Amino acid sequence: MKYVHVKGLEVSAISYGTWHLPVSPETYPDGVHKVDVEKSIKIIKRAIDLGINFFDTANTYVGTVSDTPAHYPHSGTSERILGDVLKGYERESLVVATKVRARMAGFPNGEGLSRKHIRWQIRESLSRLNMDYVDIYYIHWRDDLTPHEETLGVLNDLVHEGLVHYLGISNHPAQDMIDFQEIAERKNLEKFSIMQEAYNMLQRGIEQSKVPVARQHQMALAAYVPLAQGVLAGRYLGGVPEGSRATLEKGLVDFVEATKGKVKRLKEIADSKGIKLSQLALAWLMNIDLGITVVPLIGATSVEELEEDVDAVSVSLSAGDMKAIDEILSS
Ligand SMILES: NC(=O)c1ccc[n+]([C@@H]2O[C@H](COP(=O)([O-])OP(=O)(O)OC[C@H]3O[C@@H](n4cnc5c(N)ncnc54)[C@H](OP(=O)(O)O)[C@@H]3O)[C@@H](O)[C@H]2O)c1
Repeated sequence: MKYVHVKGLEVSAISYGTWHLPVSPETYPDGVHKVDVEKSIKIIKRAIDLGINFFDTANTYVGTVSDTPAHYPHSGTSERILGDVLKGYERESLVVATKVRARMAGFPNGEGLSRKHIRWQIRESLSRLNMDYVDIYYIHWRDDLTPHEETLGVLNDLVHEGLVHYLGISNHPAQDMIDFQEIAERKNLEKFSIMQEAYNMLQRGIEQSKVPVARQHQMALAAYVPLAQGVLAGRYLGGVPEGSRATLEKGLVDFVEATKGKVKRLKEIADSKGIKLSQLALAWLMNIDLGITVVPLIGATSVEELEEDVDAVSVSLSAGDMKAIDEILSS
């Protein structure tokens, strides 16, 4: 494993996320799938064996996909599973990130980025994770109803109380990020050290909008969906396999259709280098020069997928490889 820096923090060059853990055939009474906990434990332990120290979760994660509007009765499952496994390891050897914003209860103040909600949810997350602090605390997406000063104020307090080490921001418009960072500078509050955004070979929208903000404010980028949910692992080149992400997330099927041509050509490059398409996609993220640190934040629902993906750390891509990839992506 290689390690890179998020401010002073040393994190593995690949991070493992727990949004989608392996799915159990069992369901809750409302039809939401349960997590295959045994399989999840094996993956997380193997990730640590392979040198991953950087784990991502969120208060809202159920661990499986859910299309019920109020899935919060099952929220927190991923944090609980992750916490259960990680308690077997030295806490100081791990970097754990979680998030706040989602609706966690049906009552008023059951969601958002207010002082009250954040104070409640940090207690809940730490309890589910069975930890005294988290390394990175992200605001998951925007809350139009809470002033930025209020959110920043409470986050700053959490850092000074030792409950959170670094702040992260996810899925906010670039202008919101700039506003937050400027308020923090003006008021001498803790700034955001990392942004978490969808970024992969096929989804590069942030390059023009948010990456310049990251550069200006010395923020790292945790690139989520680095394999476009499996599309860039070639998972769908032969159709939609049973049990795959696209059988649960129907919107993915249209994306598979729209990108099929490029994915096939990218796979030819991977084949010519004797590597897997997933490894090409992850190595591309680790090689691209955006002027900031980019950490691919992967999901994997088997130990085999995880091992294949982590091997991307040792793939080297030449300037010629990067140019050939760019030609396909811009065609
Ligand atoms: N901040 C946010 O709003 C946000 C949003 C989304 C995600 N995230 C974070 O990002 C993490 C990663 O997201 P993601 O799981 O969508 O990322 P991803 O790495 O793009 O997709 C993971 C999926 O790709 C497939 N895959 C992975 N490696 C493979 C391999 N070697 N061969 C074949 N298929 C492979 C698997 O699908 P199958 O299960 O079908 O095998 C796996 O579940 C999440 O866990 C979460 O922590 C954050």
